[in-house]
Amino acid sequence: MGTLIVNGGRKLDGTISVQGAKNSVLPILAATILNSGISVIHNCPRISDVDAAIKILRYIGCDVAFEGNVVTVDSSNVKNCHIPDEMMREMRSSVIFMGAVLARFGKVSLFTPGGCELGARPVDLHISSLKKLGAKIEEEAGAIRCSARHLKGNDVVLSFPSVGATENTILAATACSGRTRIINAAREPEISDLQEFLVRMGADVSGAGSSMIVINGKKKLHNVEHEVMPDRICAATFMCAAALCGGKVRIERIIPEHISTMFSILERAGCDIKRGEDSAEVKRSGSLSAISTVRTLPYPGFPTDAQPPLMALATKCIGTSTFVENIFDRRYRHASELVRMGADIKIEGKIALVHGVRELFGSSVKAADLRGGAALVIAAMAAEGKSEIECIEHIDRGYEKIEADMRKLGADVVRK
Ligand code: UD1
Repeated sequence: MGTLIVNGGRKLDGTISVQGAKNSVLPILAATILNSGISVIHNCPRISDVDAAIKILRYIGCDVAFEGNVVTVDSSNVKNCHIPDEMMREMRSSVIFMGAVLARFGKVSLFTPGGCELGARPVDLHISSLKKLGAKIEEEAGAIRCSARHLKGNDVVLSFPSVGATENTILAATACSGRTRIINAAREPEISDLQEFLVRMGADVSGAGSSMIVINGKKKLHNVEHEVMPDRICAATFMCAAALCGGKVRIERIIPEHISTMFSILERAGCDIKRGEDSAEVKRSGSLSAISTVRTLPYPGFPTDAQPPLMALATKCIGTSTFVENIFDRRYRHASELVRMGADIKIEGKIALVHGVRELFGSSVKAADLRGGAALVIAAMAAEGKSEIECIEHIDRGYEKIEADMRKLGADVVRK
């Protein structure tokens, strides 16, 4: 369990390049099982969730090399279709291996990913979707056993556009005979990145980015090389850091369209933003005004993952900012820690009211989850005095050395 020590109060000035997207690379790593061959993945972030995915790949029989930011997976000799409980618990998105292993072997046994980091995270939509494709699924005390004599394409209607359930269904559908249509599919950019990877591998998948995805299964899959798209949530975190600490930050290697809601929110609050083709410059000199109501929604709505860093920013905006968290029911755990730093936040159910304060003060706080932890880092960077942030293993799940990146921008952040 590491700690970050932050001496706050410094303005930021510098350039940062955004890492590859965690939420893209995790399903892509699971998808490497499908081709019984070699996948080369560029721009892979060095984060602990990727290590957890690689551990699962090696356990089931893949050869995996991870050099710099390139992962090479050889899935020719995969033989194991069981994933043990302790590996499933290490990373919540391990559930995406269900669709991939099922597609390769017609069976898989694993466990529900444990914990309740952001609240209840059921997998009922994953299970009902795979059943629609002909899988027989038994669940008992957290164990999931899934088998299919014959996977057959079908119409899968999601009652909510779940990102994970959409990905699991796409992966399983690549092995189905005939056509699968996912209706009310998640539209997140990471789904488009997974589609691009699968198409490069020879799969027939189309429609990602819209709410209907069509997969014609049983295509011959081959070796593949792919570059993971940039992480829009890391980009949003750097933008909030620049806005909160003040100064000027250039953020490179982004896809501006993926974070357009964040651009407009920051501009309305009073930041100057210059957008380039694959970069943005965020400048804040004066004070910022409160953020009008932010509702987290499935893409293209405002992302729940960017709510914590934006809330950190709102703590110092003049007036009252309102947040409505619609996706997860325990996603305000950073709020009580921000209050320890002097923030004024009232929470009632899904709603958080953030009354801007003049100053935040350095304090000892604990990260309770990944994005909430990043919110504490940027709040500490804007606070007067020294902060200690504990339990930073949550932050390491999704940010490649956050302290080094923030130091590049002029912040004083070190790991103890
Ligand atoms: C993914 C992202 C996560 C992001 C989230 C929402 C990855 C690795 N993680 O998580 O960072 O915060 O999308 O953008 O990509 N639900 C059900 N039943 C299910 C599945 C989901 O009720 O079977 C509910 C969840 O409890 C939650 C909502 O649907 O309330 C959204 O979940 P989902 O879109 O599935 O998120 P994840 O794929 O877990």
